[in-house]
Amino acid sequence: MAKTRCGHALLRCTVAFLFLQLPPPGNGRADFQVKGPHAPVLALVGEDAELSCQLVPNISTEGMELRWYRNQSSPAVLVHRNGEDVHQEQMVEYQGRTSFVSDHVARGEATLRIHNVTLFDNGTYHCLFKEGTSSNQATLWLTVAGLGSKPRVQVVDDQGTGIQVKCTSAGWYPEPLVEWRDLRGQPVPAVTNFSLSATTGLMAVVSRVTVQNGAVQGLSCSISNPLLPERKGAEKPGTGLKTGSVLPSSEAQL
Ligand SMILES: *[C@@H]1O[C@H](CO)[C@@H](O)[C@H](O)[C@H]1NC(C)=O
Ligand SMILES: *[C@@H]1O[C@H](CO)[C@@H](O)[C@H](O)[C@H]1NC(C)=O
Ligand SMILES: *[C@@H]1O[C@H](CO)[C@@H](O)[C@H](O)[C@H]1NC(C)=O
Ligand SMILES: *[C@@H]1O[C@H](CO)[C@@H](O)[C@H](O)[C@H]1NC(C)=O
Ligand SMILES: *[C@@H]1O[C@H](CO)[C@@H](O)[C@H](O)[C@H]1NC(C)=O
Repeated sequence: MAKTRCGHALLRCTVAFLFLQLPPPGNGRADFQVKGPHAPVLALVGEDAELSCQLVPNISTEGMELRWYRNQSSPAVLVHRNGEDVHQEQMVEYQGRTSFVSDHVARGEATLRIHNVTLFDNGTYHCLFKEGTSSNQATLWLTVAGLGSKPRVQVVDDQGTGIQVKCTSAGWYPEPLVEWRDLRGQPVPAVTNFSLSATTGLMAVVSRVTVQNGAVQGLSCSISNPLLPERKGAEKPGTGLKTGSVLPSSEAQL
């Protein structure tokens, strides 16, 4: 069709065709899409979380308004406009706790960094990129996990029928797994209580076992976070497992 119509006026037709390919005035770039990570981002309480969004095609985000928000678009978690963070439009909960990471804006990647993550930060986010009359957004999920303190194992009292040993730890989220083992590595049945901290929303654990025949030596209590990778038997930084045990030289040798 185009060929027959343009046959006698090829030059004029080509010029018109090129003109149509230019973006419309007042809107610097053609339409774009915004993509976020497919899987939820996992962050530990007290650490930093990064929520990255990527423009498709990977054109620069410079000159765009970038907005990360939760339930409502304003006030937002962070608004970045004309190369600056707009604090007037920021939720109080995020004031002083966010940074805009501009390292890769030239290739269309914009990142919100949330510092000192709390349970409040857990949930759904949206990143909205806007330029002129064009805008698009993506949805992201932040999953917050609490890695509690090293368990403290204490011999509570000798009840005649057996010795009671207590294991305590705080700062867990969600509900952790608690496991007791004896010197030979055999599981020991326990009674465990979880309680929520009213201020942080994190869980404290109190777990008790009663052992017979003074077999407290080498008894250990391991607590792990179901969201974090764990390596059985070995406690390493960065894994979700923490273990406390009754030391051979402690008061445990009754
Ligand atoms: C978002 O809205 C839900 C339901 O109204 C509410 O439970 C939640 O706390 C809100 N989250 C934030 C961060 O405002
Ligand atoms: C954009 O993506 C293409 C293809 O993935 C890549 O070759 C190019 O280097 C990227 N551009 C920038 C500015 O990163
Ligand atoms: C992190 O947040 C907690 C709870 O809001 C606060 O108590 C603590 O001081 C903060 N830590 C830093 C380093 O800002
Ligand atoms: C945390 O967010 C995830 C989604 O990222 C959601 O499935 C989960 O229920 C949330 N937990 C709380 C305590 O809000
Ligand atoms: C668990 O909590 C209940 C009720 O708060 C209490 O009666 C029970 O003694 C607690 N058990 C342990 C092992 O702390």
